[in-house]
Amino acid sequence: MRSKLVAGNWKMHLSATEGVALANAVVSALGESADLDVVVCPPYLAIPAVKESVRNTPVKVGAQDVFWMEQGAFTGKVSAKMLSNLCIDYCIVGHSETRGRFGKLEVPASTVSHFAETDETVNLKIKALLYHAITPILCVGETQEERDAGKTVSVIQTQLEGALAGIDPAEMYGIVIAYEPVWAIGTGLTCASDEADRVCGLIRTRIAEAGSQDVADNIRILYGGSVKPDNARDLFSRPEIDGGLVGGASLEANGFSAIVAAAK
Ligand code: PGA
Repeated sequence: MRSKLVAGNWKMHLSATEGVALANAVVSALGESADLDVVVCPPYLAIPAVKESVRNTPVKVGAQDVFWMEQGAFTGKVSAKMLSNLCIDYCIVGHSETRGRFGKLEVPASTVSHFAETDETVNLKIKALLYHAITPILCVGETQEERDAGKTVSVIQTQLEGALAGIDPAEMYGIVIAYEPVWAIGTGLTCASDEADRVCGLIRTRIAEAGSQDVADNIRILYGGSVKPDNARDLFSRPEIDGGLVGGASLEANGFSAIVAAAK
């Protein structure tokens, strides 16, 4: 039986002080007996303060990205070892924003390539995180053009193959996957729950082929893309959807708490 997981991706929002206030509010709303996993992913600079504020509570802390080398001349990068030193539990990898596959372009098109994470770098990041016992939250998903061209399944298959290349099936138990259709991220266009469930089921089938049926039965597959308090219960009630990766709605304590409650 897979337990549910709800993760809030704060993206480039909130100071350390604001993040601590939000995390404290999430902790209060969650109460002591959590029968699901709740994760907040603040910007790097807020991680230490937020981590300290949720110590001895059921709320876990994740990072939004990582660099795969341990240390070295890599200006601006943060390694899995550094996250591990802070006892960080989760880390998002392959988010469509870090892949440079923005749903709606809010940055100059000329800068998009600076984000361009590839399936190969996603794979390196997952390996670095697993080495340090940090759970990767691997994001996969198609753009609107890819969906319209009937390529949803093949795009996700390619992303999964690249991300999981060379990873031992026994290690796949330590990975969380998030199906995040790019066109649904930050747009208010939620994927219909039947369709999200279908794609999550296809991901699970692919994991059974790449790993084993037991891995597929145990790995948690989240849905992400405009998850809100009013659609969370429907999404999370689907058999293949084990929770959510929440962006915008995770920035407000009541809304995020309602989404968490919908997963209980
Ligand atoms: P959203 O973002 O909930 O704001 O659509 C989801 C995500 O980017 O993970």
